[in-house]
Amino acid sequence: MACLIAVVVAFIIVFAVKKHKAGGISSDSPEYALYKNTRFQECYNNASVSANTDCTAVENRLNNGRSSGFEENNVAYINTDTLYDGDNYDISWEWCEMISCFSDFKIVPSKPRPLAIWPTLLTTWGPVALYIVGSIFQFVRQQKGVYSKKKKACKGLKEISVLDWGVHAYDFASIVWWWYSFSRLVANPSHESTPIPVGWVTIWKYAGMIRFHPYSCASRKNPRKIKIARGFLYFLAAAQWVAACYILHINWPVYGRRTPNPSYDCVLAEIDAAPGTSSCTAEKICSRNWLFVDEGFRLGSERNDALLGLLILFGTLTLAALWPLLMVAILPIMRSKGDTDPDSKARRILSWGDVGPVVSICVCSFFGIIVGAMLISELVKRLDATPDAEVNFDWECKAVHVSLSSWRYYVDVDYEKGLRFAKMWFNS
Ligand SMILES: *[C@@H]1O[C@H](CO)[C@@H](O)[C@H](O)[C@H]1NC(C)=O
Repeated sequence: MACLIAVVVAFIIVFAVKKHKAGGISSDSPEYALYKNTRFQECYNNASVSANTDCTAVENRLNNGRSSGFEENNVAYINTDTLYDGDNYDISWEWCEMISCFSDFKIVPSKPRPLAIWPTLLTTWGPVALYIVGSIFQFVRQQKGVYSKKKKACKGLKEISVLDWGVHAYDFASIVWWWYSFSRLVANPSHESTPIPVGWVTIWKYAGMIRFHPYSCASRKNPRKIKIARGFLYFLAAAQWVAACYILHINWPVYGRRTPNPSYDCVLAEIDAAPGTSSCTAEKICSRNWLFVDEGFRLGSERNDALLGLLILFGTLTLAALWPLLMVAILPIMRSKGDTDPDSKARRILSWGDVGPVVSICVCSFFGIIVGAMLISELVKRLDATPDAEVNFDWECKAVHVSLSSWRYYVDVDYEKGLRFAKMWFNS
């Protein structure tokens, strides 16, 4: 696990350093507002590409089979780097070929909102991996305490080592950060990015762990306190779980798309100076909401389903957390079947209710390593990728809007970069 984390960090550094030439532009410049971190500029107005492209067919295809909302508003979008003809799968167009067809369209400058930066496999795997590493460390400490040969006298709070406090500090920071992000999201749901919906597992872990070494020893004189603390932790975890449901709810319609909320803010002042000609005024272009709605871009054959992955992770962990309760609920049903020795059977079933930390950690690590390996294979593939991105077209105004490209998992985007890098490693 630690090795995988090291490899991923190495890739992040490579991605941050090895930029496409468009990536060198500062995000404050007017050029960046037009093209973001994409190769749009190379393809737009490129006669050598459009000469070999059947642009009528491209336009027809873009007008077919779009999500509702876009069609009614006369907006089309490109959200894959290759588009296949609906009738004949032998015909397809590359991203650059499609872009070259819209040479006279007005390019609309915009500034990304925080929600324009989608969750990725990288930002999902990072915090989960660190959470697993911290949990393994804590579990090993606990086992050492339980099975140590020498029964030493309890040293109270001193039993909790510096490293323990390190993990605590990390987990505490995750929780505080999570609630901070959540409050910002609630205050402005059409603008903010979403915190990770599995933040609650941190507190859930402590509610289970506090009964054991070294915490049980640290508060041996006071078993009542532990009980109260456990109840309080379960309550906090449940509250965070409910909050996570809200996060999933507002992201639901199509993953991550909070339509018709745009993901970008139009920059009115820079429209007139932008390339291309539109049939509308600058004010009219900025009022075309669907031009700035981000459907989510799929790079190549890759499945860009970080949000779906998060949903599965959320469901699995919820099931794991509720498993003991589920078993207790099943118990009376099993008992009523007229067993001669109901208690022994009941106990056997109950034992299934407590999966135990070893099994949980093993299962988590197993999936953590598999997904980590998948992530690294994607990172390798992305070294050769081209910076393509979602592009929206407005037929009514003859305007085009370029979104941020996720080709480097947004590592190359310097918008709120430090904050995003830090957050990548916290369960928040
Ligand atoms: C036109 O596109 C080709 C192929 O992508 C590229 O090599 C060339 O540099 C582009 N021309 C301009 C002016 O950007």
